[in-house]
Amino acid sequence: MIRVEDVHKHFGGVHAVNGATLEIAEGSITGLIGPNGAGKTTLFNVIAGAFPPTSGRVWLADEDITGLKPHELFAKGVLRTFQIAHEFSTLTVLENLMMVPGGQTGEDLIGAWFRGRQIREEERRVREKAEGVIDFLNMGHVATELAGNLSGGQKKLLELGRTMMVDARIVFLDEVGAGVNRTLLNTIGDAILRLNQERGYTFCMIEHDMDFISRLCNPVIVMAEGTVLTEGTAEEVKSNEQVIEAYLGTGLKNKPGKQPAPTAAETTGA
Ligand SMILES: Nc1ncnc2c1ncn2[C@@H]1O[C@H](COP(=O)(O)OP(=O)(O)O)[C@@H](O)[C@H]1O
Ligand SMILES: [Mg+2]
Repeated sequence: MIRVEDVHKHFGGVHAVNGATLEIAEGSITGLIGPNGAGKTTLFNVIAGAFPPTSGRVWLADEDITGLKPHELFAKGVLRTFQIAHEFSTLTVLENLMMVPGGQTGEDLIGAWFRGRQIREEERRVREKAEGVIDFLNMGHVATELAGNLSGGQKKLLELGRTMMVDARIVFLDEVGAGVNRTLLNTIGDAILRLNQERGYTFCMIEHDMDFISRLCNPVIVMAEGTVLTEGTAEEVKSNEQVIEAYLGTGLKNKPGKQPAPTAAETTGA
Protein backbone atom coordinates (compact mmCIF):
# COMPACT_ATOMS: atom_id res chain seq x y z
CA MET A 1 0.00 0.00 0.00
CA ILE A 2 2.83 2.37 0.95
CA ARG A 3 6.22 1.97 -0.62
CA VAL A 4 9.22 3.96 0.57
CA GLU A 5 11.98 3.94 -2.00
CA ASP A 6 15.52 4.87 -1.01
CA VAL A 7 14.43 7.85 1.08
CA HIS A 8 17.07 10.18 2.48
CA LYS A 9 16.42 13.08 4.80
CA HIS A 10 19.33 15.22 5.81
CA PHE A 11 19.31 18.07 8.30
CA GLY A 12 22.55 19.86 7.48
CA GLY A 13 25.17 17.24 8.17
CA VAL A 14 22.81 14.92 10.05
CA HIS A 15 21.62 12.05 7.88
CA ALA A 16 18.50 11.30 9.89
CA VAL A 17 17.15 8.96 7.21
CA ASN A 18 19.83 7.51 5.02
CA GLY A 19 18.49 5.31 2.27
CA ALA A 20 15.38 3.71 3.78
CA THR A 21 13.40 1.30 1.60
CA LEU A 22 10.34 -0.49 2.92
CA GLU A 23 6.78 -1.52 2.17
CA ILE A 24 3.66 -1.40 4.30
CA ALA A 25 1.20 -4.04 3.16
CA GLU A 26 -2.47 -3.15 2.89
CA GLY A 27 -4.39 -4.54 5.86
CA SER A 28 -1.31 -4.98 8.03
CA ILE A 29 -0.39 -3.55 11.39
CA THR A 30 3.25 -2.90 10.69
CA GLY A 31 5.57 -2.11 13.58
CA LEU A 32 8.56 0.20 13.23
CA ILE A 33 11.18 -0.16 15.92
CA GLY A 34 14.81 0.75 16.42
CA PRO A 35 17.09 2.54 18.85
CA ASN A 36 16.63 6.22 19.56
CA GLY A 37 17.96 8.36 16.76
CA ALA A 38 17.40 5.60 14.18
CA GLY A 39 15.33 7.99 12.05
CA LYS A 40 11.88 6.50 12.68
CA THR A 41 10.07 9.75 13.46
CA THR A 42 11.82 11.56 10.61
CA LEU A 43 10.71 8.84 8.20
CA PHE A 44 7.12 9.17 9.50
CA ASN A 45 7.34 12.91 8.97
CA VAL A 46 8.47 12.40 5.38
CA ILE A 47 5.71 9.88 4.62
CA ALA A 48 2.99 11.96 6.32
CA GLY A 49 4.01 15.15 4.56
CA ALA A 50 5.55 17.23 7.35
CA PHE A 51 8.52 17.85 5.04
CA PRO A 52 9.75 16.41 1.75
CA PRO A 53 12.67 13.96 1.62
CA THR A 54 16.09 15.13 0.50
CA SER A 55 15.82 12.37 -2.09
CA GLY A 56 13.84 9.20 -2.71
CA ARG A 57 10.15 8.57 -3.33
CA VAL A 58 7.04 7.57 -1.40
CA TRP A 59 4.21 5.73 -3.14
CA LEU A 60 0.60 5.14 -2.14
CA ALA A 61 -0.32 2.14 -4.28
CA ASP A 62 0.54 3.40 -7.78
CA GLU A 63 0.50 7.05 -6.90
CA ASP A 64 3.60 9.07 -6.19
CA ILE A 65 2.81 10.99 -2.98
CA THR A 66 6.32 12.29 -2.33
CA GLY A 67 6.24 15.77 -0.83
CA LEU A 68 2.46 16.06 -0.65
CA LYS A 69 1.21 18.22 2.20
CA PRO A 70 -0.56 16.72 5.24
CA HIS A 71 -3.99 18.01 4.13
CA GLU A 72 -3.50 16.48 0.67
CA LEU A 73 -2.58 13.15 2.25
CA PHE A 74 -5.48 13.49 4.67
CA ALA A 75 -7.83 13.70 1.68
CA LYS A 76 -6.34 10.42 0.42
CA GLY A 77 -6.90 8.71 3.75
CA VAL A 78 -3.24 8.84 4.85
CA LEU A 79 -3.28 10.11 8.43
CA ARG A 80 -0.97 10.51 11.30
CA THR A 81 -2.25 11.21 14.77
CA PHE A 82 -1.43 14.49 16.42
CA GLN A 83 -1.43 15.52 20.00
CA ILE A 84 -4.61 17.38 20.81
CA ALA A 85 -3.73 20.96 19.97
CA HIS A 86 -3.66 23.38 22.85
CA GLU A 87 -6.65 25.34 21.59
CA PHE A 88 -8.76 22.16 21.57
CA SER A 89 -8.09 21.34 25.20
CA THR A 90 -11.02 23.54 26.27
CA LEU A 91 -13.42 21.62 24.02
CA THR A 92 -15.11 18.43 25.13
CA VAL A 93 -14.24 15.00 23.75
CA LEU A 94 -17.42 15.07 21.65
CA GLU A 95 -16.63 18.55 20.32
CA ASN A 96 -13.06 17.54 19.48
CA LEU A 97 -14.36 14.72 17.33
CA MET A 98 -16.93 16.97 15.69
CA MET A 99 -14.17 19.45 14.77
CA VAL A 100 -12.41 16.99 12.46
CA PRO A 101 -12.91 18.22 8.91
CA GLY A 102 -15.10 15.72 7.13
CA GLY A 103 -15.50 17.41 3.78
CA GLN A 104 -18.37 15.13 2.78
CA THR A 105 -21.04 17.77 2.44
CA GLY A 106 -19.82 19.66 -0.16
CA GLU A 107 -18.84 23.13 -0.61
CA ASP A 108 -21.10 22.63 -3.64
CA LEU A 109 -24.11 23.86 -1.73
CA ILE A 110 -27.13 24.14 -3.90
CA GLY A 111 -27.80 27.62 -2.68
CA ALA A 112 -28.00 29.81 0.35
CA TRP A 113 -31.65 28.98 0.35
CA PHE A 114 -31.06 25.39 1.49
CA ARG A 115 -28.10 26.16 3.64
CA GLY A 116 -29.78 26.41 7.02
CA ARG A 117 -31.38 23.01 6.81
CA GLN A 118 -28.36 21.41 5.22
CA ILE A 119 -26.04 22.64 7.94
CA ARG A 120 -28.38 21.35 10.65
CA GLU A 121 -28.52 17.95 8.98
CA GLU A 122 -24.77 17.93 8.54
CA GLU A 123 -24.28 18.74 12.19
CA ARG A 124 -26.64 15.96 13.21
CA ARG A 125 -24.79 13.52 10.97
CA VAL A 126 -21.38 14.55 12.35
CA ARG A 127 -22.67 14.32 15.90
CA GLU A 128 -24.00 10.80 15.31
CA LYS A 129 -20.69 9.79 13.82
CA ALA A 130 -18.80 11.26 16.79
CA GLU A 131 -21.10 9.41 19.20
CA GLY A 132 -20.43 6.19 17.29
CA VAL A 133 -16.69 6.76 17.68
CA ILE A 134 -17.13 7.40 21.42
CA ASP A 135 -19.06 4.12 21.77
CA PHE A 136 -16.48 2.23 19.76
CA LEU A 137 -13.69 3.50 22.02
CA ASN A 138 -15.69 3.07 25.25
CA MET A 139 -15.27 6.76 26.05
CA GLY A 140 -18.91 7.39 26.95
CA HIS A 141 -18.02 8.33 30.53
CA VAL A 142 -15.76 11.15 29.34
CA ALA A 143 -17.76 12.34 26.30
CA THR A 144 -18.56 15.70 27.89
CA GLU A 145 -15.21 16.04 29.68
CA LEU A 146 -12.82 18.73 28.44
CA ALA A 147 -10.00 17.20 26.41
CA GLY A 148 -7.48 19.05 28.56
CA ASN A 149 -8.66 17.11 31.62
CA LEU A 150 -8.14 13.65 30.10
CA SER A 151 -5.34 11.35 31.21
CA GLY A 152 -2.45 10.78 28.81
CA GLY A 153 -3.89 7.46 27.67
CA GLN A 154 -7.37 8.85 27.13
CA LYS A 155 -5.86 11.62 25.01
CA LYS A 156 -4.21 8.94 22.86
CA LEU A 157 -7.58 7.23 22.46
CA LEU A 158 -9.12 10.54 21.44
CA GLU A 159 -6.33 11.04 18.88
CA LEU A 160 -7.14 7.61 17.48
CA GLY A 161 -10.83 8.51 17.53
CA ARG A 162 -10.15 11.55 15.37
CA THR A 163 -8.90 9.26 12.59
CA MET A 164 -12.31 7.52 12.70
CA MET A 165 -14.16 10.71 11.80
CA VAL A 166 -12.80 10.45 8.26
CA ASP A 167 -12.38 7.46 6.00
CA ALA A 168 -8.81 6.64 6.88
CA ARG A 169 -6.94 4.00 4.90
CA ILE A 170 -3.64 4.07 6.71
CA VAL A 171 -2.84 5.58 10.08
CA PHE A 172 0.64 6.33 11.38
CA LEU A 173 1.08 6.18 15.14
CA ASP A 174 4.25 7.50 16.77
CA GLU A 175 4.73 6.02 20.25
CA VAL A 176 1.05 5.81 21.06
CA GLY A 177 1.89 3.76 24.15
CA ALA A 178 4.43 6.15 25.65
CA GLY A 179 3.53 6.98 29.24
CA VAL A 180 0.20 5.16 29.07
CA ASN A 181 -0.84 2.81 31.88
CA ARG A 182 -1.36 -0.92 31.19
CA THR A 183 -5.15 -0.88 31.25
CA LEU A 184 -5.45 1.98 28.79
CA LEU A 185 -2.67 0.53 26.67
CA ASN A 186 -4.77 -2.62 26.32
CA THR A 187 -7.80 -0.52 25.41
CA ILE A 188 -5.77 1.30 22.76
CA GLY A 189 -4.43 -2.04 21.48
CA ASP A 190 -7.97 -3.45 21.27
CA ALA A 191 -9.17 -0.38 19.37
CA ILE A 192 -6.30 -0.71 16.90
CA LEU A 193 -7.06 -4.40 16.33
CA ARG A 194 -10.76 -3.74 15.86
CA LEU A 195 -10.14 -0.84 13.45
CA ASN A 196 -7.83 -3.12 11.51
CA GLN A 197 -10.20 -6.09 11.43
CA GLU A 198 -13.59 -4.40 11.24
CA ARG A 199 -12.81 -1.26 9.27
CA GLY A 200 -9.85 -2.42 7.22
CA TYR A 201 -7.46 0.23 8.55
CA THR A 202 -3.81 -0.34 7.81
CA PHE A 203 -1.50 0.82 10.60
CA CYS A 204 2.15 1.64 10.84
CA MET A 205 3.28 2.24 14.39
CA ILE A 206 6.50 3.28 16.05
CA GLU A 207 6.64 1.74 19.49
CA HIS A 208 9.16 0.94 22.21
CA ASP A 209 7.07 -1.51 24.20
CA MET A 210 7.96 -4.91 22.72
CA ASP A 211 5.02 -6.67 24.40
CA PHE A 212 2.65 -4.23 22.74
CA ILE A 213 4.48 -4.69 19.41
CA SER A 214 4.38 -8.48 19.71
CA ARG A 215 0.68 -8.47 20.43
CA LEU A 216 -0.30 -6.24 17.51
CA CYS A 217 2.31 -6.08 14.79
CA ASN A 218 3.22 -8.28 11.89
CA PRO A 219 5.59 -7.59 10.34
CA VAL A 220 8.02 -5.60 12.44
CA ILE A 221 10.53 -3.45 10.57
CA VAL A 222 13.73 -2.53 12.38
CA MET A 223 15.55 0.71 11.60
CA ALA A 224 19.03 1.67 12.69
CA GLU A 225 21.18 4.60 11.61
CA GLY A 226 18.67 5.91 9.12
CA THR A 227 18.18 2.69 7.22
CA VAL A 228 16.23 -0.55 7.42
CA LEU A 229 18.15 -3.27 9.22
CA THR A 230 15.73 -6.14 8.92
CA GLU A 231 12.07 -7.15 8.88
CA GLY A 232 10.23 -10.15 10.28
CA THR A 233 7.80 -11.27 12.93
CA ALA A 234 8.27 -9.83 16.42
CA GLU A 235 9.81 -13.15 17.50
CA GLU A 236 12.23 -13.15 14.58
CA VAL A 237 13.50 -9.63 15.08
CA LYS A 238 13.80 -10.09 18.84
CA SER A 239 16.25 -12.94 18.37
CA ASN A 240 18.11 -11.34 15.44
CA GLU A 241 21.77 -10.74 16.37
CA GLN A 242 22.06 -7.57 14.30
CA VAL A 243 19.02 -6.10 16.01
CA ILE A 244 20.33 -6.90 19.48
CA GLU A 245 23.64 -5.34 18.53
CA ALA A 246 21.96 -2.21 17.17
CA TYR A 247 20.14 -1.72 20.48
CA LEU A 248 23.13 -2.49 22.67
CA GLY A 249 25.46 -0.48 20.49
CA THR A 250 23.63 2.74 21.24
CA GLY A 251 24.90 2.64 24.80
CA LEU A 252 23.46 3.74 28.11
CA LYS A 253 22.24 7.13 26.98
CA ASN A 254 19.58 5.46 24.85
CA LYS A 255 18.32 2.96 27.37
CA PRO A 256 14.55 2.85 27.61
CA GLY A 257 13.43 5.32 30.23
CA LYS A 258 16.36 7.62 29.50
CA GLN A 259 15.15 8.92 26.21
CA PRO A 260 15.88 12.48 25.23
CA ALA A 261 12.98 14.88 25.27
CA PRO A 262 11.07 14.87 22.01
CA THR A 263 12.06 17.52 19.52
CA ALA A 264 9.67 20.28 18.60
CA ALA A 265 9.13 18.51 15.30
CA GLU A 266 8.04 15.37 17.12
CA THR A 267 5.61 17.05 19.43
CA THR A 268 3.99 19.29 16.83
CA GLY A 269 4.46 17.05 13.84
CA ALA A 270 5.65 20.17 12.03
N1 LIG B 1 14.58 18.75 12.74
C1 LIG B 1 15.76 18.17 12.93
N2 LIG B 1 16.90 18.88 12.80
C2 LIG B 1 18.12 18.29 12.98
N3 LIG B 1 18.30 17.00 13.31
C3 LIG B 1 17.19 16.25 13.48
C4 LIG B 1 15.88 16.79 13.31
N4 LIG B 1 14.97 15.79 13.53
C5 LIG B 1 15.70 14.69 13.84
N5 LIG B 1 17.03 14.96 13.81
C6 LIG B 1 18.10 14.00 14.08
O1 LIG B 1 17.92 12.92 13.20
C7 LIG B 1 18.21 11.69 13.86
C8 LIG B 1 17.01 10.78 13.82
O2 LIG B 1 16.00 11.30 14.67
P1 LIG B 1 14.54 10.69 14.79
O3 LIG B 1 13.97 10.56 13.43
O4 LIG B 1 13.80 11.49 15.77
O5 LIG B 1 14.86 9.24 15.35
P2 LIG B 1 13.92 8.21 16.17
O6 LIG B 1 12.51 8.65 16.02
O7 LIG B 1 14.22 6.89 15.57
O8 LIG B 1 14.38 8.28 17.59
C9 LIG B 1 18.66 12.05 15.27
O9 LIG B 1 20.05 12.12 15.28
C10 LIG B 1 18.05 13.41 15.47
O10 LIG B 1 18.81 14.17 16.38
MG1 LIG C 1 11.00 9.11 17.42
